[in-house]
Amino acid sequence: MTDKYAVIGNPIDFSKSPFIHMSFASSTQQDIEYTKILGPLGGFKETVDQFRKAGGRGINITAPFKLDAFQYASKRSPAAELAGAANALSFAGDEVIAENFDGVGLVRDVVHNLKHQLKDKRVLLLGAGGAARGALLPFLYEAPELLVIANRTLSKAQELKRIAEKNQTQQNQVSALPFSALAGMQFDVIFNATSASLRNELPAISATVFGAESLAYELAYAKGLTPFLQLAKSSGVKHLADGVGMLAEQAAEAFSWWRGVRPDTSKVIRELTVPLN
Ligand code: ATR
Repeated sequence: MTDKYAVIGNPIDFSKSPFIHMSFASSTQQDIEYTKILGPLGGFKETVDQFRKAGGRGINITAPFKLDAFQYASKRSPAAELAGAANALSFAGDEVIAENFDGVGLVRDVVHNLKHQLKDKRVLLLGAGGAARGALLPFLYEAPELLVIANRTLSKAQELKRIAEKNQTQQNQVSALPFSALAGMQFDVIFNATSASLRNELPAISATVFGAESLAYELAYAKGLTPFLQLAKSSGVKHLADGVGMLAEQAAEAFSWWRGVRPDTSKVIRELTVPLN
């Protein structure tokens, strides 16, 4: 029998998840159906209950339901606990297990696809919202020499630093700084995990953070050359990336969690890439 999966969000039209998962299913010969569900605001629980009753095996969650999904679960992975949000659920009888693959997908894209190591590197994380929080532990597992978390609202960066220190397994140096303190500092990898690009805004950072061999990574996807990537490019950075690989890799994590087989992501990344110019 065909197993049912879906992505739920509001809006949901833009979602590439059905395309990605059906492409994975075809390359791994998995018999699944993967649909989009427009979740009514305030109606997450009822909609997912219905999907489970109809035989749904698992679901991906996008905005604005990641917190609802976390609440809905009966069991949560450490990554979901830390992010306080879920981007994938698995249904097994009465049990609902929550996962969050955004951070691990990001790290896999950087290290495996883009071939930029984080180990012993100087890493700058811009932002301290949901996206940055999801990336925190996967970054620390890579053991960077220095992880600077910089945010417009410093207290939120400091909160992330406290969480990092509590969960630290290696001797990494973690700092929380305001944007203004970045002037004169340079990093090997710079992540824009703020939501500034969605409004075509630039976080108020100094161009000194970029070196010619740095990687500038915009977590937003398919926005072309965002103000952050423009600043990196005009500062001489050769390695620019957006979140297309992260999108594909978090999907691959969910797919292998559900189906027990890991799909190759290179084809969907190629097909979904929007040129950075
Ligand atoms: P997400 O889930 O996308 O991370 P979020 O939790 O609302 O969304 O967090 C948005 C992040 O983008 C925050 O770090 C926010 O900074 P503040 O904590 O100071 O609000 C950051 N952000 C949004 N617009 C920004 C801008 N124009 N410049 C700098 N940072 C911005």
